[in-house]
Amino acid sequence: MAVDLKSVLVTGGAGFIGNNFVRFFLKRHGDTEVINLDKLTYAGNLESLRDIEGNHHYHFYKGDISDAAFVKRLFNEWHFDAVVNFAAESHVDRSILGPQVFIDTNVRGTMTLLEAAREFEVGRFLQVSTDEVYGSLGSTGKFTETNGLSPNSPYSASKTSADMLARAWWKTFGVPALITRCSNNYGPYQFPEKFIPLMIINALQDKELPVYGDGKNVRDWIFADDHCEAIEAVLENGRVGEVYNIGGGNEVENIELAKLILAKLGKPESLLKFVTDRPGHDRRYAMDSTKIERELGWRPNRSFEQGIEETIRWYVENQKWWHRIVSGEYQNYYKLQYEERPSWSNLRKG
Ligand code: NAD
Ligand code: TYD
Repeated sequence: MAVDLKSVLVTGGAGFIGNNFVRFFLKRHGDTEVINLDKLTYAGNLESLRDIEGNHHYHFYKGDISDAAFVKRLFNEWHFDAVVNFAAESHVDRSILGPQVFIDTNVRGTMTLLEAAREFEVGRFLQVSTDEVYGSLGSTGKFTETNGLSPNSPYSASKTSADMLARAWWKTFGVPALITRCSNNYGPYQFPEKFIPLMIINALQDKELPVYGDGKNVRDWIFADDHCEAIEAVLENGRVGEVYNIGGGNEVENIELAKLILAKLGKPESLLKFVTDRPGHDRRYAMDSTKIERELGWRPNRSFEQGIEETIRWYVENQKWWHRIVSGEYQNYYKLQYEERPSWSNLRKG
């Protein structure tokens, strides 16, 4: 192991990938103190972490990664060996409707954490990034780490900015930053504003499944636990200053995926509804994971067939978890996706 991990700060640990990572990491590192710093926005949910609340190696702090005074106090208290920065505004659609908070959290928040990592000489700083920083692909080819960065949405522009900050803090100040760029995740505990849980939940409620444009956009899907394992590999043994792509090797067209979910749930295709496309909608993402496979021996474990079955089963069996979202305090964040979506076409000028 490259670093001795006595204490690890996980930001955004109450979100979808973050809570899967906290659970995964505690299981694998029984003696490491895992500190979860999360603002608990609409996307953060402590219900997702109920099963590990009693673990005395797990510590939760509610706070904002862009609050410099708070962040400094936390670093001073724990002197972290490593930081894994998941905290972000993560939904492309919301970044189109309101970009400001994406800059506040994804850009300013990342800089605040990097500054604290610099001051307190953190051993590793892992910035959790996305394939969306590379832009969009045509019908062939895959993104490698040497591709240029061409973000097309306010979300991906903010994530690209964060990557650039991590790089600069490494080059200029020697903050030991590593960047992972992963493709689209799916699995348990994903907020139903994202494609897969939205389609499952709507199908379960016999509601329409909104498919953007012609439905032929392609995403490379990876099961969240496989992403967590890749992050662990990079955190422990990745080369500082490097970028690692992480892909599932599962390219699927949105319309095919929606049909698959309907078929698995025994629901009719008449529930499919083609709706106005998202402005700036990237056509295709596909990741080349050769570097992480060769250097760190990582490979995804879940086949798409297994992963999607497991995910559908989880949403069927955990209706209480998502009913709180569909009908509770945060219902507008869910409703945006199927009944209150503005006419995207009015947003794009020229
Ligand atoms: P999510 O939206 O489910 O969770 C984000 C978490 O961050 C929430 O718990 C939220 O409360 C917290 N948060 C937001 N603003 C904060 C702030 N200012 N301070 C502290 N906490 C804050 O997101 P996710 O899907 O779990 O994504 C996690 C990370 O992985 C993000 O950085 C995202 O860009 C990246 N990523 C996601 C995917 C994907 O498919 N979901 C793919 C590649 C990379
Ligand atoms: P999403 O889950 O928002 O992830 P991202 O845009 O970051 O890849 O969307 C995945 C794909 O599904 C994307 O091509 C947009 C499309 N999509 C729909 O067709 N309908 C929907 O309601 C949503 C949320 C997404």
